Amino acid sequence: MKSHKIALIPGDGIGKNVTEAAWQVLQAAAKKGGFALEGTNFPWSCAYYRETGAMMPPDGIETLRSFDAILLGAVGWPAEVPDSVSLHGLLLPIRKQFMQYANIRPHRLLPGVQGPLRSEGFDILCIRENTEGEYTGAGGRVHSGTGNEVAVETSIFTRVGVERILRYGFEQARTRRKKLASVTKSNAQKHSMVFWDEITRAVAKDYPDVELTQYHIDAIAARMVMEPDSLDVVVASNLFGDILTDLGAAIQGGLGYAASANINPDRSVPSMFEPVHGSAPDIANLGIANPIAAIWSGAMMLEHLGERSAAAEVMSAIEAVTTRGIGTNPGQDRTEAITGAVLAVLS
Ligand code: IPM
Ligand code: MN
Repeated sequence: MKSHKIALIPGDGIGKNVTEAAWQVLQAAAKKGGFALEGTNFPWSCAYYRETGAMMPPDGIETLRSFDAILLGAVGWPAEVPDSVSLHGLLLPIRKQFMQYANIRPHRLLPGVQGPLRSEGFDILCIRENTEGEYTGAGGRVHSGTGNEVAVETSIFTRVGVERILRYGFEQARTRRKKLASVTKSNAQKHSMVFWDEITRAVAKDYPDVELTQYHIDAIAARMVMEPDSLDVVVASNLFGDILTDLGAAIQGGLGYAASANINPDRSVPSMFEPVHGSAPDIANLGIANPIAAIWSGAMMLEHLGERSAAAEVMSAIEAVTTRGIGTNPGQDRTEAITGAVLAVLS
């Protein structure tokens, strides 16, 4: 029987609750699909940091390297460990070290979910650059604590980095409605964003069948609210993509529905799948976190592993459940009830 080795990193807060839910659903899908998912649990988290002084062991990345995929819950417990420490100790190094440069985030309304917009038919695939740009981490502070203190955070855009994310976007657009929106702010940022625009136009020549539109971040933010149906694939830098995908989550009814995949398309190292939402310490372990975003991320993992029909089964199970109004109102259904309903459709 075919078997996939999965590293499970539930992390902090509701990350643990939703990973457990997603894992149950994935196991059911595997059983039905005639393949195995062999999970190994890693307790790397803020609690782990409190015990060991690090978010993961020094050889953590090496340990993960041999897995076929990583399923992650959420990282962060700011009351105990500053976010700048926890995220730079676990989530961000995995994305960067494994060169998971494409952060894929689908935004559409699940049936039965009421979004805040008039429009109900939008289907946007945000593709966020995930390894460089504004989140490279280059910079520093000098004259700390004095009145003359200076902080510098430098965005780094490389030709390789920009070109590959755009190519990835164009390839995705080809499998969909053949429209690509490239997002910059080249009217104000005249170096990096003009560079991005130039590369966009050059890459677009290889995809004459895809309709390209170049937007500024402010304009596309408004468009996502006013005319979301006009968008198909949206490619953006790390910071812009981060912000647009929380907006995307909002228009699809909330962060409880927003799934994501951190993909290294060359497949030489594991890709990572995680809900867009964070650890939500205020509702951790109360049994009310919506597991749908994590389960949907799990479906994206199955797809990446080549288990297409199992991925489709999980998605239609989610949709069958939301169609019946289960998991469609924040706080209405318990994590267990939503998970149980998805499992019942699969069984
Ligand atoms: C996300 C999150 C992270 C990011 C944070 C927690 C560093 O907001 O996945 O969107 O900005 O990448
Ligand atoms: Mn974010």
